[in-house]
Amino acid sequence: MILPIVAYGDPVLKKVGEEIEEGSDIQTLIDNMFETMYNASGVGLAAPQIGESIRLFVVDASPFAEPDEDGTIDPLAEGLDGFKKVFINPIIEEESGEEWGFHEGCLSIPKIREEVFRKEKIVISYYDEDWNLKEEEYDGYAARIIQHEYDHIEGILFTDRLSPLKKRMLKKRLQKISKGEVAVDYRMRFPLAKKRR
Ligand code: NI
Repeated sequence: MILPIVAYGDPVLKKVGEEIEEGSDIQTLIDNMFETMYNASGVGLAAPQIGESIRLFVVDASPFAEPDEDGTIDPLAEGLDGFKKVFINPIIEEESGEEWGFHEGCLSIPKIREEVFRKEKIVISYYDEDWNLKEEEYDGYAARIIQHEYDHIEGILFTDRLSPLKKRMLKKRLQKISKGEVAVDYRMRFPLAKKRR
């Protein structure tokens, strides 16, 4: 089932997500999140974005692994073909390396992309969808996507990581998004949309 994606300005996006009780059956929610993410052509989706303030996100980075016109694959996308994963109650244990900039977008903030700086490498522990505890290391785009989604369950948006000047420049556009004054081709829920009469 495709769920509406919560837009910028909704308080749920600013909340720290609750831990999920170990062993809970959340398969239907996971399936719905993947369906919702694919429908919106996203590579990651966190539970707060569908209105659930819990520590869960899904990613599928395969689109990054597709060769471009001259047939080359971006080295930062190495190993991302079929990179589809569920992260339950994750903890980023370690972040290391140089900070690098990448233009991030977010399904909750349509049509805005800005450069965000994050560290290269992460070590993350989490439960997979069968409640197996894992600890893995990521770099490149995989780390980037995970860091962005992890921020969501901590109540942080990529716009929170921009300079005060950038934030001021985006303010009007972000307000418009909250009101639903933006063209999107997937279902969204806007916190400040005028009620239909
Ligand atoms: Ni996002």
